[in-house]
Amino acid sequence: MEQLHAKDVLAFVEGQGKKETLRFITCGSVDDGKSTLIGRLLYESKNIFDDQLQALESDSKRYGTQGEKMDMALLVDGLQAEREQGITIDVAYRFFSTEKRRFIVADTPGHEQYTRNMATGASTAHVAVILVDARKGVLVQTRRHSRIASLMGIKQVVLAVNKMDLVGYDQLVFDSIVSEYRAFAADLGFEGLQAIPLSGLDGDNVVTRTENLAWYDGPSLIHYLETVEIHTASDRGAFRLPVQLVNRPNLDFRGFCGRIAEGTVKPGDQVRVLPSGVRTTVKAVIDGFEEVGAAHAGNSITITLNDEVDASRGDVIVAADRPAEVADQFEAKLLWMAEHAMSPGRQYLMKLGCKEVTATIMGIKYRQDVNTGGHMAAKTLELNEIATVDISTSAPLVFEPYGTNKLLGSFILIDKLTFETVGAGMIDFALRRASNIHWQALELDRNARAAMKHQEPRCIWLTGLSGSGKSTIADLLEKRLYSQGKHTYLLDGDNVRHGLNRDLGFTEADRVENIRRVAEVSKLMVDAGLIVIVSFISPFRTERRMARDLFHEGEFVEVFVDTPLEECERRDVKGLYAKARKGELKNFTGIDSEYEVPESPEIHLRTTGLTPEVCAEQVLKGLQ
Ligand code: ADX
Repeated sequence: MEQLHAKDVLAFVEGQGKKETLRFITCGSVDDGKSTLIGRLLYESKNIFDDQLQALESDSKRYGTQGEKMDMALLVDGLQAEREQGITIDVAYRFFSTEKRRFIVADTPGHEQYTRNMATGASTAHVAVILVDARKGVLVQTRRHSRIASLMGIKQVVLAVNKMDLVGYDQLVFDSIVSEYRAFAADLGFEGLQAIPLSGLDGDNVVTRTENLAWYDGPSLIHYLETVEIHTASDRGAFRLPVQLVNRPNLDFRGFCGRIAEGTVKPGDQVRVLPSGVRTTVKAVIDGFEEVGAAHAGNSITITLNDEVDASRGDVIVAADRPAEVADQFEAKLLWMAEHAMSPGRQYLMKLGCKEVTATIMGIKYRQDVNTGGHMAAKTLELNEIATVDISTSAPLVFEPYGTNKLLGSFILIDKLTFETVGAGMIDFALRRASNIHWQALELDRNARAAMKHQEPRCIWLTGLSGSGKSTIADLLEKRLYSQGKHTYLLDGDNVRHGLNRDLGFTEADRVENIRRVAEVSKLMVDAGLIVIVSFISPFRTERRMARDLFHEGEFVEVFVDTPLEECERRDVKGLYAKARKGELKNFTGIDSEYEVPESPEIHLRTTGLTPEVCAEQVLKGLQ
């Protein structure tokens, strides 16, 4: 019995193996009936197991919204929390199959804040099923999702006009929604757009066509999904193998493992390792434990090379005569996915393929209106906004434009401190300007200049609330250093904001830029051999980290001028706290703009009960 069962399973798996797999996403607004529709697809294609069915029946009575009918949405909204709130909150992959194909559906929630999940699902999907409620028609969310699907390179779209039962199966309603959508989608670059009227609840047109929609002569949803043409990573393109892992079990063997992103490879092929560009030839191609004659796009393989070349995780092995591009500045489309607004100038981790680098958004060229596609000027990006931006990276990246290769053309941005994924991007092209500006190596360097001044250059970075005493302490500190014969310079927030940073205010984006500039200036001064004292509120950890990263080990000394807010407010030397409390001054640090306390400053000045002289003395001591 056991054995028979095992054999059945094997036969089943084998049968499945021969079928093509179609990946699709469903997207729509809350209440468009997405979960019900997917539940219906699973149910009708008999892909629910008996125990799930029983659970469904009892759950339908407990949580269902459909009275005595089974609530299909409960099949899909797997998580307890979701059921109780009646929303879907995570991206969920479901598998089902019919005689013709296997399907992987990424069910992506409709809530505005979960566009992130939608983008995740869309990056690998062949088809997007965009649901609209027949009673509501095309909504902002419909347009947003369509635009993201287009951005992610999805070419085949189904406009599923759901809940036709609630509009009396009226063809006029359907036709007017379809024509509105077609007009909107005209410039989104979809190759196929199939509109299907249906009812997920009653099952019309999901699997079979019914009398209710007799006026419609197109395919049912499942029929469409079974027959639509699938475009996948192709063997036709040039060979690309992003190196995931270097396998070196002993000195005689060095294998480069990864999944072929594009093209084919066989022993003897001429290849290059990028970004270094070193050329060699393929010695062997190993699939599993066997050497094979060739391997294709999508295969996970190991290759060995005929020369001892240096390649590590994140490098890409490519066809020698058709290499990919290498650059450190790009124009890209960016979808912002964090609650926290994006700030140009701030550093993020960027992950492209297997490579991780530090990236800075140098500027926003324009933001895209999700409704009209129009271009708008923008200083920052909020949650769910889409923009075209310029990005620079700390190291050269091997890439291809997203239109040519999705794998080597897409990236995510990660917050350096929280490790939250904050953005998804698609590279349009490399910016040439960076490659034409070289760093001038000069004969006279920092060490020579420092030696002449008989000092170790430093950047002494004072951070703390407005009124914490930074400027007073900085001033005393500079005088002390000066009297010791040191060459110093003091950069004070208020003063620099009168000149170099006159164009900046106090929004988060402006503060990021404020700190970026002053950090770069102080780096130049340290390079000139000076001891620089910087006195800026510098409220954000990420920017203080960015400043630190510009310097050599030991050059950057962070001093936290730790004066409690109540004390700063009591002093209120400039009367600004009073103004901020009255609401006359917006974004005031400590009141309605955050101050992120330093976690491990080199010097921590707890100023309460200390005179500024004593504080300056403590910094001097700390420096030694
Ligand atoms: S930072 O946050 O960007 O580092 P910075 O140190 O340059 O600030 O400037 C702070 C000074 O600007 C304060 O000492 C105060 O005199 C003045 N100021 C004016 N508006 C604000 C505000 N909204 N928040 C903080 N400081 C402000």
